Amino acid sequence: MKKITVGALLLSMMFTGVKAQSLKSPDGKFEMSFQLKEGVPYYNLKYNGAVVVEDSKLGLRLFKDTAIKFASEIAKPEDAKYDLNNGFAKTDEKRDSKNETWQPVLGEKKNYINNYNELAVTLNQASTDRSIVVKFRLFNDGLGFRYEFPQQKNLNYFVIREEDSEIDFPTDMKAWWMVADYDSQEYQYQETKVSEIPSKWDKAYDANASQSLVKNAVQSPLMLKKEGKEPLYINVAEAAVLDYPASHLEVDAQNYKFKTHLTADRQGAKGYIQTPSVTPWRTIIVAPKAEQVMGSKMIFNLNEPTKYTDTSYIHPTKYMGVWWEMIIGKSQWAYSTAENVHLGKTDFAKLTPNGKHAANNTKVKEYIDFAAENGFQGLLIEGWNIGWEDWFGHSKEFVFDFITPYPDFDIKMLNEYAHSKGIKLIMHHETSGSATNYERWADKAFQTMNKYGYDAVKTGYVGDIIPRGEHHYSQWTINHYYRIAEKANDYKIMVNSHESVRPTGESRTYPNYISAEAARGTEYEAFGGNKPDHQTVLPFTRWMGGSMDYTPGIFQTKLDYYFPGDNRFVKTTLVKQLALYVTMYMPLQMAADLPENYKKHMDAFQFIKDVAADWDDTKILSAEPGDYVITARKAKGTENWFVGGITDENKREYTVDFSFLDKGKKYEATIYEDGKTADYIDNPQSYNIYKKEITGKSKINFKMARSGGFAISIKPVK
Ligand code: NOJ
Ligand code: CA
Repeated sequence: MKKITVGALLLSMMFTGVKAQSLKSPDGKFEMSFQLKEGVPYYNLKYNGAVVVEDSKLGLRLFKDTAIKFASEIAKPEDAKYDLNNGFAKTDEKRDSKNETWQPVLGEKKNYINNYNELAVTLNQASTDRSIVVKFRLFNDGLGFRYEFPQQKNLNYFVIREEDSEIDFPTDMKAWWMVADYDSQEYQYQETKVSEIPSKWDKAYDANASQSLVKNAVQSPLMLKKEGKEPLYINVAEAAVLDYPASHLEVDAQNYKFKTHLTADRQGAKGYIQTPSVTPWRTIIVAPKAEQVMGSKMIFNLNEPTKYTDTSYIHPTKYMGVWWEMIIGKSQWAYSTAENVHLGKTDFAKLTPNGKHAANNTKVKEYIDFAAENGFQGLLIEGWNIGWEDWFGHSKEFVFDFITPYPDFDIKMLNEYAHSKGIKLIMHHETSGSATNYERWADKAFQTMNKYGYDAVKTGYVGDIIPRGEHHYSQWTINHYYRIAEKANDYKIMVNSHESVRPTGESRTYPNYISAEAARGTEYEAFGGNKPDHQTVLPFTRWMGGSMDYTPGIFQTKLDYYFPGDNRFVKTTLVKQLALYVTMYMPLQMAADLPENYKKHMDAFQFIKDVAADWDDTKILSAEPGDYVITARKAKGTENWFVGGITDENKREYTVDFSFLDKGKKYEATIYEDGKTADYIDNPQSYNIYKKEITGKSKINFKMARSGGFAISIKPVK
């Protein structure tokens, strides 16, 4: 009797197509399963036996052919037969697993562990005789999946209308999100329920120099928390976004469901594919503890190892910059009062100087002197080159040539002066979004850098992208960023890009692409402000795929110091600015304030001088998105540790347990803490500094002010 029942069940499963393939993580805690329901692919995910992701649909919609016209943006019902989302039968299934350790060139730890089980299902669509593969990798920290398109007779070239990968959660959750946009991610994070996103969306953004909002969609990485007795922290993101647009997440707030929304180009197309090809990975990181999510390296593991043969020129760099004074409006990038300049025609030496040009020989030498005296390796100088008079907002293609200095910037003399003091100047290539122009000049620009001994460049993409109609996160522009990274590698140059797409673990493959901005950085403190909890959300979102050039270190937080009556201010205490050097991973680490402000607080500045920028180990001691982050890191190749703690708009206490230190060893800790009356609004510059001998058995309690923190540097006692 029993036999018959099982047999009948199996038979009915074959007919209805509900036969599932399942896969477990190496530690057995995760289980995912894949199945076709009437030819449509679905997957789900369980953690410790409980459903984390309910049955969620997979698939892509395509354009009928590769010759896209604007009119073809309108879907015709008959085009549906070209879609890769229905009529599938499973024709093959392959399994694999990996457990390897690899060393990032620069990283948060010496070793990253890449351990997963893999399931690859081949699906054939009989009506068109096309096959695709859906590949799943299940790690101990979550799931990654992607589509693969083998080369075949009926699938050589195609254009994506949309990728429809769903993530369907069973319950409402808390979410830390930002409005989706094809051109900017410089928005404040919102903390609401998933179900509240649509009603809050309209008030969740401000203006940007380039902006193409996607209504009711949010950006990736998205951070979620299932609250209750057994909380779960979930991060939804993507990995290895190469030769493909970046994706956003459309929100179905009633069903707590998200779906990919790719960045379109001007024609509405979302990816031009030539097989064989693969998509980026969709990632879902899940853990009972927030610290585990923050510490996950899954996104990096889903990227390919580098093919670079020489990475010896890639090094962590601490730098200062002729920068903040322009950001706050005290100085200018432009040299002259002209409003309309033509590169190659305008004689800049004959223009009337505006008297506010910061990148001049005298000032740059002063910055070099200060940076050298305090042990920095680099000095960024912005506004050194001709073209800033009309640099953005005019859809101008030939904005900069990246090689010609302004008349008051002696590039040869300044480089020689810098090198004589052990400083390398950091190049600045603002493109104003004119990527075509940058590609045209890139070789000459990098040759100029080689000639004068620059080894790092900060690029920038303020304003709308040229080719006109492309977006900062569309496929063409993403390819541009990596073309530049590869070319920079040819010239042994490290890259830090601003306004580019957020990284999704590509530093594993392109280790010279050491940093990006790609979120609201310190500069926004001068453009409208960052909320006091901003820096506690970023490590759970923007940082999941790679380091950020946040540019911390502002000691003079109130801007009325420069401009009486100005109510702009950096919304942290001075000590929280110190702690950011540890809580934020930045191998390219800026001390962003003016030398004159550091000179007034040399005792606190000592922490920035001492802190490392590359690490052998990282321990997230405690963290909660939107509330606080406490991190300890061990400096590369030394026994020195640094600890940073930050809090949001609330005062908070935290006791550091130093048991991460070596047993039996004695250390000297230098402690930087908020003063008793410190407060990010009323008294941001109040701090105490003291030294204390500690061991692995020590515990120290810290009281963090509103938007305050603490920072500790720890050295073994010899
Ligand atoms: C925006 C960048 O984020 C900022 O750092 C830079 O100074 C300006 N663009 C000018 O390039
Ligand atoms: Ca909070």
